[in-house]
Amino acid sequence: MSLLFPKWFNAFPTAFALGGLCTATVAVAGVWYYFTPKFWAVGYEPTQPGGGFSHQIHAGKLGLDCRYCHTKVEESPEANIPNVATCMGCHADGRLKALAEKPAHKEKTEFLRTAFAADQSVEWSRVHKVPDYVRNFPHNAHVNAGVSCYSCHGDIQNMPVVRQAESLSMSWCLDCHRDSAPHLVEKDKVTQLAWVEQHLKERQQKGTEGLAAGKKLAEDMHLAPPEHCAACHY
Ligand code: HEC
Ligand code: HEC
Ligand code: HEC
Ligand code: HEC
Ligand code: HEC
Repeated sequence: MSLLFPKWFNAFPTAFALGGLCTATVAVAGVWYYFTPKFWAVGYEPTQPGGGFSHQIHAGKLGLDCRYCHTKVEESPEANIPNVATCMGCHADGRLKALAEKPAHKEKTEFLRTAFAADQSVEWSRVHKVPDYVRNFPHNAHVNAGVSCYSCHGDIQNMPVVRQAESLSMSWCLDCHRDSAPHLVEKDKVTQLAWVEQHLKERQQKGTEGLAAGKKLAEDMHLAPPEHCAACHY
């Protein structure tokens, strides 16, 4: 019988497989390189514009509630960053009396008055970000379920500059979805970060009795954190 295909044709599948492997490797490396922005890492702490913004001063020392600025966390899937007008409530000329006249303070807050006068916004560098293929991260669902900002963002009230405290990886989401009780607090306490930090530690020290408190909250609120792919990826 004559050969349908010449002998050298036998090398084709191997060549194809090798070529395919190379293409795949290059594709993975490319995706890795181009689609992994610097913010997907614990400890990511970008420099902020102007005099910056200190949560340690505003949320810690002055004790402002998170919702004074992040007004939408309970209603919206997206947490909002406040506009300059919110800052001007205190940092407009003369509002802070003697303090406003202190040269160091005046200088550090000047960028706000300049932006406000020019009707411009301040371009804050974003710290936390999940990749675009994670289509659904609803802030409101978590905050209303009694998951404190503390559990996902760390002790923000002590941070002069915000830094990423958790990995925001898929296993991080799922670890909590499979066992959320140790993270739950009463809904009206979610923005009291220092209290939450202390309270969760005490509960952990109490062992089973402490765990029962979290489990009761989950049952009372009928929580059902999803684990199926479509919940987060559609
Ligand atoms: C006086 C207004 C104000 C208050 C009060 C405030 N924040 Fe913020 N927050 C900001 C501004 C402005 C930014 C953007 C600049 C930055 O990242 O530091 C921000 C950024 C953040 C970020 C990082 C967002 C990102 O880019 O990923 C988190 C998380 C956050 N705030 C949580 C909190 C929590 C939790 C509280 C309460 C303990 C709080 N904030 C109180 C104004 C405020
Ligand atoms: C409720 C009033 C209030 C609001 C609202 C407010 N601040 Fe302040 N801010 C203060 C006070 C008071 C100080 C001085 C605190 C100190 O020196 O102990 C201050 C200090 C600052 C400083 C100087 C920090 C330093 O290291 O000395 C900056 C910058 C600043 N604020 C930015 C902002 C920005 C940005 C916003 C809006 C997102 C904002 N503030 C909203 C009251 C406020
Ligand atoms: C269950 C975890 C979780 C909780 C609870 C949580 N956050 Fe977040 N937060 C995230 C994640 C994840 C992102 C990034 C979301 C994204 O990329 O869409 C984020 C982003 C943010 C941002 C940046 C939004 C932007 O568009 O730049 C702010 C501000 C913020 N969170 C504030 C808060 C505040 C205030 C609370 C408490 C009232 C809170 N978060 C509670 C996980 C959480
Ligand atoms: C510290 C605990 C915790 C972490 C971390 C966490 N979640 Fe959740 N999540 C919950 C709880 C509790 C619920 C249940 C809310 C309910 O049943 O009302 C929930 C519910 C959800 C829901 C369903 C919301 C709805 O409307 O029913 C989605 C989607 C979700 N989480 C996505 C995420 C993603 C994406 C991440 C990671 C980036 C994440 N979660 C991290 C605790 C957490
Ligand atoms: C609770 C939310 C949630 C659920 C449920 C979920 N994922 Fe994810 N997934 C994420 C997040 C967040 C990331 C981003 C991880 C990162 O940035 O490292 C991710 C990343 C991925 C990736 C990219 C590779 C990686 O591991 O980083 C794949 C693939 C993926 N998910 C598939 C799935 C499949 C399949 C399921 C169902 C079995 C699923 N996911 C369920 C939140 C979720």
